[in-house]
Amino acid sequence: MNVHIKLFAIALVLTSCSSTTENLLSPDGNIEIAFTLTDKGEPSYSAKYKGNDIVLPSLLGFVLKDTTSLTDNFKITGIERSDFNESWTPVWGENDTIENCYTQMIVNLQQGDRKMDIEFRAYNDGFGFRYIFPEQTAKAFVIADEATQIAMAGDHTAWWIPGDYDTQEYEYTTSRLSEIRAHADDNFMNNASQQRFSPTGVQTALMLKTNDGLYLNLHEAALVDFPAMSLELNDTTMTFKSHLTPGQGGTIATIHTPFKTPWRTITVGEKATDILASNLILNLNDPCILDDVSWIHPTKYMGVWWEMITGKSSWSYTWADNFNLATFDYSKAKPNGIHGANNENVRRYIDFASEHGFDQLLVEGWNIGWEDWFGKEKDYVFDFVTPYPDFDIAALNDYAHRKGIKLMMHHETSSSVDNYDRHMDAAYDLMKRYGYDAVKSGYVGNIIPKGEHHYSQKQVKHYLDAVKKAADKHIMVNAHEAVRPTGLCRTYPNLVGNESAMGQEFADMSPQHCTILPFTRLKGGPMDFTPGIFRMKITDFAPGGQGKQKRATIPNQLALYLTMYSPLQMAADMPEHYQKHMDAFQFIKDVPVDWSKSVYLDAEPGDFIVVARKDKGSDAWYVGGVTDENARDYTLDYNFLPPGKTYEATIYADAPDGDGFDNPEVYTITTKTVDSTSKDKIHMARGGGFAISIKPVE
Ligand code: NOJ
Ligand code: CA
Repeated sequence: MNVHIKLFAIALVLTSCSSTTENLLSPDGNIEIAFTLTDKGEPSYSAKYKGNDIVLPSLLGFVLKDTTSLTDNFKITGIERSDFNESWTPVWGENDTIENCYTQMIVNLQQGDRKMDIEFRAYNDGFGFRYIFPEQTAKAFVIADEATQIAMAGDHTAWWIPGDYDTQEYEYTTSRLSEIRAHADDNFMNNASQQRFSPTGVQTALMLKTNDGLYLNLHEAALVDFPAMSLELNDTTMTFKSHLTPGQGGTIATIHTPFKTPWRTITVGEKATDILASNLILNLNDPCILDDVSWIHPTKYMGVWWEMITGKSSWSYTWADNFNLATFDYSKAKPNGIHGANNENVRRYIDFASEHGFDQLLVEGWNIGWEDWFGKEKDYVFDFVTPYPDFDIAALNDYAHRKGIKLMMHHETSSSVDNYDRHMDAAYDLMKRYGYDAVKSGYVGNIIPKGEHHYSQKQVKHYLDAVKKAADKHIMVNAHEAVRPTGLCRTYPNLVGNESAMGQEFADMSPQHCTILPFTRLKGGPMDFTPGIFRMKITDFAPGGQGKQKRATIPNQLALYLTMYSPLQMAADMPEHYQKHMDAFQFIKDVPVDWSKSVYLDAEPGDFIVVARKDKGSDAWYVGGVTDENARDYTLDYNFLPPGKTYEATIYADAPDGDGFDNPEVYTITTKTVDSTSKDKIHMARGGGFAISIKPVE
């Protein structure tokens, strides 16, 4: 690691409100942040890119409960400046080395005897700022509202989902900022837990494009012990204000000094691919704090899962209803006959997954309680340790281990969080006892205790506590329905995945969804999207599946292993569906889940994404491209390959008559010799895509 820090702190002691402006330039000088106090002593900042406004003067601070707010009457007591240049090595990732180069300015502010600093970091690809509450007379602050503004310099195009305290499982709407209110309900859909707060509320990461073609992305980094931030737009002034998720009784946050808030971040790019390639969010998080990371590994897995999601089998073992988990006698209960996680079925999946080189097999519905979980808002709904009578946990783990794979644990909490906290130690210990090292957790439904929200301060703390506790026990975590990630996987690399967006379980999502997620949800960390569906008409094999049909071609599903970066990738479909297309399945078997280099070749949010990645463990490259509901021809230039080397490319492409809506399961597979001077014109069908494996010729 190469670290270079320069510190030049200046203690500026100012006796009254000051109107001086303190500027901070990014290392390349393109981004300029200006901090000033207004004549009321209000902290304010603005930002420019190459001399053009990207953030107009915007206020900073906090409204406090029952006491004078931290919004005005400040004076500057000092400015600390420094710069920093290092490169670091992630445990897993899109690249094996990440540059972290920034300039920094900490503005020391004082209001009476209360101290609040604002720390700005300017990078070449954006900037972030956070509030620091140093140790001081006040031991705690009770925050009623965050006053942070981000004033946009125009009526930008936005790719947005509605602000909601409980879910990010929405489709995106593309509109001008001024049109958000009019389109607030366009993509509304019901969820087991949701609470919107405003017709102009949107969630981060928010993707924007200015009239001049500049790309901006608003998010937060290092969300620790604080509520998640949504953004509320004033659509007259085009000013966003931070909107913090409330907890029980409408409380927002209590912080104890010393304390640092999460970073508020703005990524800037001249090309859409600059946003995809940016590491700003990871860089703003603390380095890995785990001493030993040898047990953390990228993982390719299958699951006894899609058959439950599609309604072909059930998570539950019986049709019993409304019972007390503590007294219900499963040995006397009548099995419903369609329980997915039964010994025979799990062994069938183990056989297939191990034969084809997968690392793990997720099994959902293995534990008691599934009869009574959904929508009941029950406290004691699962114990996370007792298997159903037809799931022999010891024998199945032995069987899997003998075949060279592990089972992956599943903890659906039903959002009964206190219950999960009470059982977490025992649940993790059970995992260790049987040889599990990864857990998929889930938070479906309203949070119990009632009144808490999925993204409130208490919940945010819970999700990270679960990850920390797992790290102590060498367990990797993939949490669904948890708060959307903010780069904490740098600090805790055992957080290998999250869902926290509309994933494949919403089988009939629009094709454009996967051309937006990498610009939004994935900026905070990897998504367990669960690609690899090969049989698109779900009602053909699961008649109860509510008329669902995936609008995607098989090559589109293959490309997602590249375009949706994650160290944890599932082959989400069932063995019997892969068996019909073993030639296309070969790509899923081959594709790595850890990379030494990633090159985003071309992209436009809502339209298409093409990315090339180099395998961490070999000289092979892989390319993936996805399109939206429009067919598209793409000319692939292989100039990302090192010159002078010859490769064999296997191209999985949409067939000429392929179509994500009407003819999704047809494709072509061609093999050819390529080098860095090669070019290929590739056709992507509606909802289509392509995937290429490029292996060096010896
Ligand atoms: C929602 C998750 O996203 C899904 O993957 C899981 O199967 C169900 N909850 C049940 O836990
Ligand atoms: Ca989900």
